[in-house]
Amino acid sequence: MRVILAVTGASGVAYGLELARSLKGQELHTIVTKSAKDIAKEELEDKEKAIQELSTFSTLHDENNFNSPLASGSFLFDAMVICPCSMKTISAIANGYSSNLVSRAADVAIKEGRKLILVPRETPLSPIHLENMLKLSRLGVVILPASPGFYGNPKKITDLVDFIVGRVLDQLSIRNSKYKRWKHA
Ligand SMILES: Cc1cc2nc3c(=O)[nH]c(=O)nc-3n(C[C@H](O)[C@H](O)[C@H](O)COP(=O)(O)O)c2cc1C
Repeated sequence: MRVILAVTGASGVAYGLELARSLKGQELHTIVTKSAKDIAKEELEDKEKAIQELSTFSTLHDENNFNSPLASGSFLFDAMVICPCSMKTISAIANGYSSNLVSRAADVAIKEGRKLILVPRETPLSPIHLENMLKLSRLGVVILPASPGFYGNPKKITDLVDFIVGRVLDQLSIRNSKYKRWKHA
């Protein structure tokens, strides 16, 4: 599978990092925005180490590089995931404002009818956020909020992260046991 993963400047960089790890073995193309890197400094123990790790099993693309193959509809890919996805990036996608490689690749995914999964993180949500997400949902974009369930009795933060990563993998039709399924042996 060829997957594009974008990590944008919403809280929860750990979701994106763990998703990338879970996609090892697939052909993975990653874009990490400047805002995501700034937030990673706050949320991860070692941001540089995390980026270095990503570069070992994925091709990194600069968010400002429109010469990247990802900017073109001729680059065939199976799915794009934006995890976590900021409200700014959602707004850009919902309005066709392709100002960086993330919103451009998402624009391509929509115009080419390819799978696009967004993992938004914001609270509370304003009518603007909700309208943007509804618009995208009606176009077939999967809106998968970073709101983990607690029915699996999570003990650690990584359990919460794994819940969301598992649900994204489910959407990609990748069998996984990242989280405890409801009433499942
Ligand atoms: C510490 C911190 C946490 C943030 N958390 C969120 C968030 O959870 N959701 C969100 O939509 N924006 C959040 N923002 C704002 C975005 O980072 C900002 O809108 C940025 O322009 C997003 O850019 P990008 O989508 O190109 O990465 C946060 C900013 C900071 C500094």
